[in-house]
Amino acid sequence: MSFSKVGVVGLGIMGAGIVEVFARAGYEVTGVAESIPAVDAGQANLAKSLSRAVSKGKLSQEESDAITARVIFGSEFKLLAECDLVIEAAPEILSLKTEIFSQLDSVVKPSGILATNTSSLSVTEIAHATKRPAQVIGMHFFNPAPVQKFVEVISTSESDPKTVAQIVELGNSLGKHLAQISDQPGFIVNKLLLRYLNHAVQILDSGQASREQLDSAMRELSNYPMGPCELLDLIGIDTCVEILKTIYADTGLEIDQPATGMVQLVKAGNTGRKSGSGFYDYADAHQVPTDANDEIKTQVHNDLLIAYLGDCIAMEATGYATKADIDSGMKLGCGLPEGPFEVISRLGLAKVRVAQAELATRTGVVAYQPLAL
Ligand code: 3HC
Repeated sequence: MSFSKVGVVGLGIMGAGIVEVFARAGYEVTGVAESIPAVDAGQANLAKSLSRAVSKGKLSQEESDAITARVIFGSEFKLLAECDLVIEAAPEILSLKTEIFSQLDSVVKPSGILATNTSSLSVTEIAHATKRPAQVIGMHFFNPAPVQKFVEVISTSESDPKTVAQIVELGNSLGKHLAQISDQPGFIVNKLLLRYLNHAVQILDSGQASREQLDSAMRELSNYPMGPCELLDLIGIDTCVEILKTIYADTGLEIDQPATGMVQLVKAGNTGRKSGSGFYDYADAHQVPTDANDEIKTQVHNDLLIAYLGDCIAMEATGYATKADIDSGMKLGCGLPEGPFEVISRLGLAKVRVAQAELATRTGVVAYQPLAL
């Protein structure tokens, strides 16, 4: 099967980004959202992203016009009837996604593949809202979708191997680096990333460090493109809380319970950049945070890094993902300068294990203990 028509349902930041990825790669794309204002917002997001690329000289005006011409927008599911693939990028609410899949199942042609861009929910449960679970798959992009080169391809125990192979071929045609994995809460990257982000907000909630200290610590001492509070604002704090709830329901570990600071911001409607404020205010141009307190920065940087490296070691040990896929996911999905296993080999595994034990003893969090050898 060769794909020519691709549909995207949900035109928020991720949905609009996915539309751009496919349209740039030459596919005919139909973007559908639940209401006219949501359609307009998605269309405006695409236009903004393309005009940024044109003004930077990355794209000619003619190329930008050709990309725009390949996209149709609308608010009716029937527009998706002839699509070879439809990717759902709606908010992280299972009942909403299952409702969308049930509707897609009734309108999309029988040969069409249905994919979810869910960040952590069960692809298996979503597939069961349709009568074609063998043709349902996870295709998880990273924000901003046109920039991040990693995509997780999630198959369920019912996915047809042919469907998986077709999606892998399609993902490669987009110039993305793929990891093929099974259906587990948070998959590779979000399981690791969200625990790290939650850890940062737990530190913030405890008063040990400010948001500026946390952000400048990770930017300056590990060369991350963004600190944790800035990244939470970029992803959307509401989305992060939902992902953590799914992970927490699976692990039952206190470290996965969404941190109070995040939950409160969501309750107040301050969900991050998309709402105009989150950990930071976006009314004015966002300034890169800096903070001069080197001692606090070093401490929080080391704690966040060691807990995260321990999680990476534990994930690889379960056999869920390879070191290569974990490294690629964190570098190509989140723009980190080094993969965790590259960091571990630079620091030395023995040193990391000693630091894990010290962190566990100092904080009393058993989950930070190194794995038994
Ligand atoms: N859409 C399209 N392109 C964008 C963009 C957007 N929203 N934002 C930035 N870009 C492009 C710019 O045009 C620029 O392209 P160029 O190199 O070709 O000129 C490039 O990205 C770099 O942009 P800037 O110079 O403006 O800004 P930065 O250098 O500060 O980079 C960033 C911005 C790419 C967002 C970088 O800070 C980054 O990688 N941050 C980490 C983001 C991350 O971790 N994402 C994953 C989150 S987890 C997730 O999405 C999963 C979900 O399920 C929760």
